[in-house]
Amino acid sequence: MAKTILDIQGLRKTYGQNEVLKGVDCSVQEGEVISIIGSSGSGKTTMLRCVNMLEEFEGGKISLDGEEIGYHVDGSTRRRKSEKEIARQRALTGMAFQQFNLFPHMTAAENVMLGLVKVKKMSKPEARAVADTWLDRVGLATRTNHYPGQLSGGQQQRVAIARAIAMAPRLMLFDEVTSALDPELVGEVLQVIKGLAADGMTMLLVTHEMRFAYEVSSRVIFMNQGVICEEGDPKDMFVRPKTDRLAEFLKTSSFN
Ligand SMILES: Nc1ncnc2c1ncn2[C@@H]1O[C@H](COP(=O)(O)OP(=O)(O)OP(=O)(O)O)[C@@H](O)[C@H]1O
Ligand SMILES: [Mg+2]
Repeated sequence: MAKTILDIQGLRKTYGQNEVLKGVDCSVQEGEVISIIGSSGSGKTTMLRCVNMLEEFEGGKISLDGEEIGYHVDGSTRRRKSEKEIARQRALTGMAFQQFNLFPHMTAAENVMLGLVKVKKMSKPEARAVADTWLDRVGLATRTNHYPGQLSGGQQQRVAIARAIAMAPRLMLFDEVTSALDPELVGEVLQVIKGLAADGMTMLLVTHEMRFAYEVSSRVIFMNQGVICEEGDPKDMFVRPKTDRLAEFLKTSSFN
């Protein structure tokens, strides 16, 4: 029986008067690769950011490996956990974004080493060995001492992914990691993600690359106006959508 890594129940989030997540339920089993698709503003990024505690949320609960994330929930009362506790929990997930957010004054290897030394308390030589291993895995063995400014966008994104994965997260979150890249650089980044999927990494990825979602996902989630509107096997979702909304969305997307 697969183990539940992530369990989201009744997640609600508002920005001012604007309710952007209106009760999201989602459970992710170990080794699953889930693509989240949906139109702009449907709440995809917000959902990932809540899982990583980059956003506070007002309702529902999120558990990771059975631990409640961010809040102690007891009946109708909820209390935010301490910052120290939240920092520890945040390290259980790795996240990669559209913007790579690498430190420009640090080499590729130093960017990957930073969290290993600061958060995982590794010695520098240990951290360097881990960084080299992951940079090699993402095809950058010959670029470890390059600065971000000396790397292409696709290479920078691969450093950012290596940096997140090197921390050995239980779950990886990807938010449109190819959206800022020139088209010819998209493939190399998707290839890295495919490799991680093949290795059994549990992943939740927001993407506009429908063909990629179709090929790589064990399950696809379609978000619409702050709720999960439809979910299922990619073959059913893309070929035989059940809801009109998904059918409409697919017509305007890149899948064909
Ligand atoms: N920091 C913020 N403050 C106020 N409103 C926000 C903030 N971040 C997002 N929103 C709003 O929340 C809603 C959901 O945004 P979100 O970024 O989650 O959408 P998305 O599905 O990721 O869209 P996209 O495909 O464009 O990335 C939108 O209406 C957006 O305007
Ligand atoms: Mg988004």
